[in-house]
Amino acid sequence: MTPRERFEASTAAARRTLCRLAVSLRTPRTDPIPQSLGDRVIRFRDPALADQPLRPNPAYAEPPRTLGPAPQQRPTNPRFRAIGHNYHVAHIPIAPGTSLYATGEVAGPFRRNGTVTTCWNHDAFGYSDKTPHLYQSHPWVLGVRADGSAFGVFCETTSRCTIDLAAGIKFETFGPTPAIVVIERDHPRDVVRALAELTGTMPLPPRWALGYQQCRWSYHPDARVREIAQGFRDRDIPCDVIWLDIDYMHEFRCFTFDKEQFPDPKGLNDHLHTLGYRAVWMIDPGIKVDPDYFVYQQLTEGGYAVTDKHGAEYHGSVWPGPCAFPDFTSKQVRHWWAGLYKDFMATGIDGVWNDMNEPAVFHVATKTMPESNLHLADDELGGPGPHTLYHNVYGMLMAQATRDGIAAANPDKRPFVLTRAGYLGSHRYAATWTGDNLSTWQHLHWSIPMALNLGLSGQPFAGPDIGGFGYLATPELFARWMGIGALLPFARGHTNKYRDPKADGAGVGGDTIMPDHEPWSFGERTEHVCRLAIQRRYRLLPYLYTLFERASRLGDPVAQPLFFEDPADPKLRDAEDSFLLGPDVLVRARTTRQGECDAPMPRGDWRRFEPAAAHLNDPTDADLPELFIKAGAIVPMGPIMNYSDERPLDPLTLVVALDEHGKADGALYEDDGDGFAHQQGRYLRTVYLAETDARDVTVRIEDESGNMPRPTRALHVEIITADGRAAKATAQDGQPITLRLP
Ligand code: GLC
Repeated sequence: MTPRERFEASTAAARRTLCRLAVSLRTPRTDPIPQSLGDRVIRFRDPALADQPLRPNPAYAEPPRTLGPAPQQRPTNPRFRAIGHNYHVAHIPIAPGTSLYATGEVAGPFRRNGTVTTCWNHDAFGYSDKTPHLYQSHPWVLGVRADGSAFGVFCETTSRCTIDLAAGIKFETFGPTPAIVVIERDHPRDVVRALAELTGTMPLPPRWALGYQQCRWSYHPDARVREIAQGFRDRDIPCDVIWLDIDYMHEFRCFTFDKEQFPDPKGLNDHLHTLGYRAVWMIDPGIKVDPDYFVYQQLTEGGYAVTDKHGAEYHGSVWPGPCAFPDFTSKQVRHWWAGLYKDFMATGIDGVWNDMNEPAVFHVATKTMPESNLHLADDELGGPGPHTLYHNVYGMLMAQATRDGIAAANPDKRPFVLTRAGYLGSHRYAATWTGDNLSTWQHLHWSIPMALNLGLSGQPFAGPDIGGFGYLATPELFARWMGIGALLPFARGHTNKYRDPKADGAGVGGDTIMPDHEPWSFGERTEHVCRLAIQRRYRLLPYLYTLFERASRLGDPVAQPLFFEDPADPKLRDAEDSFLLGPDVLVRARTTRQGECDAPMPRGDWRRFEPAAAHLNDPTDADLPELFIKAGAIVPMGPIMNYSDERPLDPLTLVVALDEHGKADGALYEDDGDGFAHQQGRYLRTVYLAETDARDVTVRIEDESGNMPRPTRALHVEIITADGRAAKATAQDGQPITLRLP
């Protein structure tokens, strides 16, 4: 196509856009009476704007069906106000004693009452609690009432939207009239589950993605990648994944490799595989404007790029200089993008990291593309329209296309994608991390509430850059951060390429390279703590994998707030330095340099346990968080390995904490760790039960399901009593085992 033809085609596209918008505005009235979308799930619309069309929303896994008018008795009732066509306010009053959470990816206090968050995906290097918007948008609030009952509120809009929690819940939207969906449940966990019924659950990731992962901007050339990979093995620090940041590319052109520094990507990936690693490589949305570059050629020839308001291909500057941006709102464009991964993945790449997909644009005050840019958007998304409508979902749609691409390239493997930008529902396509944080105690502290609020917003697979991305980490901060980060759902160490001259006195211009941030870069003491921290994660992997399976089936967060244990206890509502890993493990961390963990313990009996060989009374090991098991629980653990599938799970260890009735139970989920045979029943879910009979404890299988044969393996049982004594015994898994109480 000549440029003239391209221009005409794009102006025709713009005309089509305007026509479709006009048609959609004439769509007949929809019912403003609150409608039921399911059991205690109600959609409310502004009665004064009944003639406005209801826009589809990609947060939903499937468009929800309206089941008829909602019941008259409704504990939560939004009030609406519209000013002009484009500004809408929905106010949801709350009762005194109601605590508010979620709102997606946010820095600052865990409990969100009194905060204001704007949903507008934003490249937010070195963000703080004052930054109005980070990389993702979740127009969703979870409320926990004084009595522990809970509700969730979703403002159905993809436009810019402010969540003001100063007095009740107020959503201010700047765009088409939104609908408000309210979910009512008796427990906050059930609200998150009900959200997952609407938005879908996270697909079960490959087990290796639960291992520790090592990144930096950037490991290059390939020899440095090999050196890092060997470094973990030589030092007996477990690690599953090595990450390749932008410098592997040929001048930042996506889907290319730098011929000098990475002459043989397949050879590099093969080498990593022989050491037991998986490799995740970065792909950004900005495609360098270069008529000789095959991706740019295909993008322009297909007319796949986002256009400006006149219909001409939009260009904005990112790493490679001027770039065009694929219009992921079109199925056809997503299909094309997915196809690009075939050859890329054929080099042995295991997972893909989508970054800068807010989309981030350099040298403009807004840090993104103009809101007047035009998208082709399919009707399922609401039809063609300006960037204002699609900004917040751009990154999620990119992750969707990426996931489709790597699934098609490797149909027998579970895809793994990490995305920086996201919208409510993006957990269906990708895990996430909390972007460019800083190596400060404050950011370490925020990393827990950030992961918790993402979990309460439907994204269970999240974590920070361990050690902090910007600024220099100190040995003590790094050790402490590894202790905590290794227990969050996504555990990856990462760092910036450049030091920040303002922060640490490095050379002016930011051209001084950031020192290394590997677990061994800060001296022996820190290395020792990091090793223990990561070993703890590997021992807990069977439990973690069981939690991930539950998240993929039910939508439960993996890292959970303390108040899940007792939602009516007001003391648990503000806990920020303590969290639950699933229902049975509690983590108490120290996130300030000098201070102790100040979170209260939930009611009940929680017992200290140690998965690795850490001695928390030793001042060095005391950098690690304390771990507790709930009385009444059995937590499955595995042996320490260099990487998650180095060896079979043998021996299987069951940590048992009997409750006051002398009982405990707990589940273990196992499958092949990758592939899809589990969907055909090839898995093994075992429920172990421990019971006391006078002075003896018997541990046996109470229930098992799935058709994966039980592996022949040793079973170690460790009973932890209230006074800290332990009893141990070994048997064959599958056989009951009886041991004397200590
Ligand atoms: C962005 C990412 C960061 C990455 C860098 C270079 O700042 O957030 O993680 O290392 O870009 O690709």
